[in-house]
Amino acid sequence: MGGRKMSSCLEEVIPKCLLLTIWAFLLLARNGAEAFHRLATTEELQKVPPATITNRTGFHFQAPKNWINDPNGPMYYNGIYHLFYQFNPKEPVWGNIVWAHSYSTDLINWKPLEPAIYPTKPFDINGCWSGSATILPGNKPVIMYTGIDQQNRQVQNVAYPKNLSDPYLREWVKPDYNPVIRPEGDINATAFRDPTTAWYGHDRTGVLYRSRDFIKWVPAKQPLHSVKDAGMWECPDFFPVLMKPLVGLDNSANDNGLKHVFKVSLDANRYDYYTLGIYDFIHDKYVPDGSSPDNNTGLRFDYGNFYASKTFFDEGKGRRILWGWSNESDSIEDDWGKGWAGIQTIPRAIWLDGNGRQVVQWPIEEVNKLRGKRVGIYNRSVESGGVIEIKGIESVQADVVVKFDVSSGLDKAEKFDVAWRDPQKLCFEKGADAKGGIGAFGLYVLATDDREERTSVFFRIFQLGQKHVILMCHDPTKSSKSSDLYKPTYGSFVDYDLRRSGGKLSLRTLIDHSVVESFGAYGRTCITSRIYPDYAVGSNARLFAFNNGAEDVKIVQLRAWEMRKPLMNGA
Ligand code: FRU
Repeated sequence: MGGRKMSSCLEEVIPKCLLLTIWAFLLLARNGAEAFHRLATTEELQKVPPATITNRTGFHFQAPKNWINDPNGPMYYNGIYHLFYQFNPKEPVWGNIVWAHSYSTDLINWKPLEPAIYPTKPFDINGCWSGSATILPGNKPVIMYTGIDQQNRQVQNVAYPKNLSDPYLREWVKPDYNPVIRPEGDINATAFRDPTTAWYGHDRTGVLYRSRDFIKWVPAKQPLHSVKDAGMWECPDFFPVLMKPLVGLDNSANDNGLKHVFKVSLDANRYDYYTLGIYDFIHDKYVPDGSSPDNNTGLRFDYGNFYASKTFFDEGKGRRILWGWSNESDSIEDDWGKGWAGIQTIPRAIWLDGNGRQVVQWPIEEVNKLRGKRVGIYNRSVESGGVIEIKGIESVQADVVVKFDVSSGLDKAEKFDVAWRDPQKLCFEKGADAKGGIGAFGLYVLATDDREERTSVFFRIFQLGQKHVILMCHDPTKSSKSSDLYKPTYGSFVDYDLRRSGGKLSLRTLIDHSVVESFGAYGRTCITSRIYPDYAVGSNARLFAFNNGAEDVKIVQLRAWEMRKPLMNGA
């Protein structure tokens, strides 16, 4: 059931619909640790260096200055998109957290507003942490967020727009009856946060918390879902998905057999994991499919630097959109020097893959509006050991879409060793240089002329019986000369059938100064890296296609666009 349909039903017949229950899912870790964002030490704060790193992004969502983390309460309301985010108004490090607020009509150009929620009351005086927005019957938005109260307990509060006829919903009111949910019983009050968007359920057994009016919340007898010894879950998200490219559903959709995604941000390693499963809305229980592990070896939206993600249903275009926070991988000193830290990844449409085993993500179509000058390569072979420079655009801020054809060498792919369980490790061990049968092949981005400085985005193809295993990697080990930066190699296997695709494999990479965001096999595997080139900056940044494998690889089509800078919060 779509959002529009649901709200109109409730508008008309709300007294009769009272049996419907609004469910909010809340983080319910009982023994979670308190540790999360690292705080700068006094020594670090004292030695603030000059700005040495200037690789500020151009078309990714960012604040004019200072620190940002989680995307909060993204929503579409009366034709306007709102994005709130965790923000430190004073410094480029975590602390003093408020809900900063921006709006947009296209999810690409953003204008800043005053912070929507900031500490003022006993129930949030020590911080306004992550939460979500829900559109209630009668088209009324409400935010539920975690407040850090006077006793440093994590409590859940609500806030409503002061004036619904203000198209920008500038001011938010926090009723005095807050908090609406307190950590009670054996709940750990320092690990009880990040309420997700509420949805309508069946009025039966409780699932965490339920309410008829968003004010009085009743604790549940059993959780929606739980995993033993999983560590602390942050920022849970729970939503239905359809097997229709680009199409999404409202959180309350509950048609029989509908697949749901349950995502948690695992504090233990700072990655987001999800399972697909069935939400039994009669018993309010979510049961994962079992096709992927429900732990820290499971499926991820992004196998790189991407955390605390949040989706929302875009009623305007009938799609679900995913945002994720991409933290800096430079040092705290560098962030003081730059004066800013943290970006949000490009908003991605998200839906269920045709194989039912994973989600697919694709940059929203509005991103294409930023495309400027274009260059292309068509039907060209990249020979074993070959490199082709893609000239004619400024690739420091670019969108590159490639379709490779590896069909001619498919039979010569290296044998896959079943002991290779960890794709990230495999990417690291082989890097971009080791000569395989097919691959490594892909792109060198943010590279210098001599490619001494470069970030490699690539695939390797292996044979396993009659099938092929595709490995996708980001290797930033040569991305800058500095040796003290964190330069993790990222990787994942790509669940994609190369025989069925006739040996064709696509790659899209968004390059933006200090972020590289890649989508393999039409968005089946995504990897985001933060890198800080010293020389491959501005007009010195180069882009190459390469092939370090034994077999030739064909570029069926490569198109690369310079990307314009949108309005970005006044900066
Ligand atoms: C995730 C997180 C949330 C918390 C917020 C505080 O990055 O730790 O759990 O609400 O950040 O800024």
